[in-house]
Amino acid sequence: MSALEKPLSSTLGVASKAMPKKHFMHVVGARPNFMKAAPVIRALGEKGSRQTLVHTGQHYDFNMSEVFFEQLGLPRQETNLEVGPGSHAKQTAEIMMRLEPVLLEKKPAAVVVYGDVNSTVAAALVSAKLRIPLVHVEAGLRSFDRSMPEEINRLLTDQVADTLFTPSADADENLLREGVAREKIFRVGNVMIDSLVRLLPESARHLPPHLPDRFALVTLHRPSNVDVPGYLRQLLGTFAELSKKISVIFPVHPRTRQRIGELRLDVMPNGTLHLLDPLPYLSFLALEQRATVVITDSGGIQEETTFLRIPCLTLRENTERPITVTLGSNKLVGRGIGRLVEELELVLAGRPKRGEIPPFWDGHTAERIAAILT
Ligand code: UD1
Repeated sequence: MSALEKPLSSTLGVASKAMPKKHFMHVVGARPNFMKAAPVIRALGEKGSRQTLVHTGQHYDFNMSEVFFEQLGLPRQETNLEVGPGSHAKQTAEIMMRLEPVLLEKKPAAVVVYGDVNSTVAAALVSAKLRIPLVHVEAGLRSFDRSMPEEINRLLTDQVADTLFTPSADADENLLREGVAREKIFRVGNVMIDSLVRLLPESARHLPPHLPDRFALVTLHRPSNVDVPGYLRQLLGTFAELSKKISVIFPVHPRTRQRIGELRLDVMPNGTLHLLDPLPYLSFLALEQRATVVITDSGGIQEETTFLRIPCLTLRENTERPITVTLGSNKLVGRGIGRLVEELELVLAGRPKRGEIPPFWDGHTAERIAAILT
């Protein structure tokens, strides 16, 4: 029986008859939610909590969702709201409309949301209006860039959350400055690292075949990078140039794939630039751990590379995860191609930034969360 087929109670732990347990409802929707929810569900399950899992359907491709459920051992979701793609307003509104009756019916004692995607803010607003206590895991991160949809999602979710779990001290400071009461804030560490620590050994078996000794691993999906045709063209040109010196492995997000298709950039002239479909969690982890350098605009990958001490060049002007730069292996190279090329040269010359692992990024964050929630 696969993890997906297991009844929820067997995976999540069953509340004992004698002592009714608090019912937690987890709401997830997009790829970066899954590796954060899995350890929390597991830790609450070990405490015997009653839990349900709702998938909004924001991400729906097998490669973006189901394979993560399988590999992370997430239980089959009780409800899938199947919202699919749409503008931000449409997607958020659809999730809100479809989630409200589920909450009214199931009446959880608390709703738990993760990160900063549209599903997070939608579930937060519905829960707050129904006066259901809201728990936000990965609270307090700020890029201070309101042109990023995720920044709006973070600000709003944290304002209505009742319990806020933060990964680092900067997040606590942001929340306090925004008027969040100190007693609601708990610094527990980085929950995504729990999944990484647990599954790193297993990931070795998921290495793609014929992997070169040295390679750059690329991911790119932010609208600010991929929705500007000239810039995307320039970036792909840089990766093609880079691939003359070192293999470049680029699992392509559906949005980016669409843009590359629109620009007719599919056929690259170079044999060592590999454009792949999005990869399952374990294969990506295996690559990340062995990469010579990672080039990305993802938030989570800045953190994973910091933990793995793999040099990371982030194609953004700012980051909501500053500790990955101050302490970790991350460098912000902005959107200028020149800086990217310079930094790549440094890595190729054998001078990578390795950094250090931040405190509390130890694989035990979910246990701390479960202890506080129960
Ligand atoms: C979302 C999150 C982003 C996160 C990213 C990880 C928001 C605002 N953004 O961005 O923070 O870093 O997920 O992937 O919530 N698509 C598919 N199949 C899928 C999912 C998406 O084809 O399974 C395509 C659709 O055409 C869709 C587009 O990708 O319109 C973008 O998907 P969407 O969920 O809107 O945002 P992401 O860019 O994935």
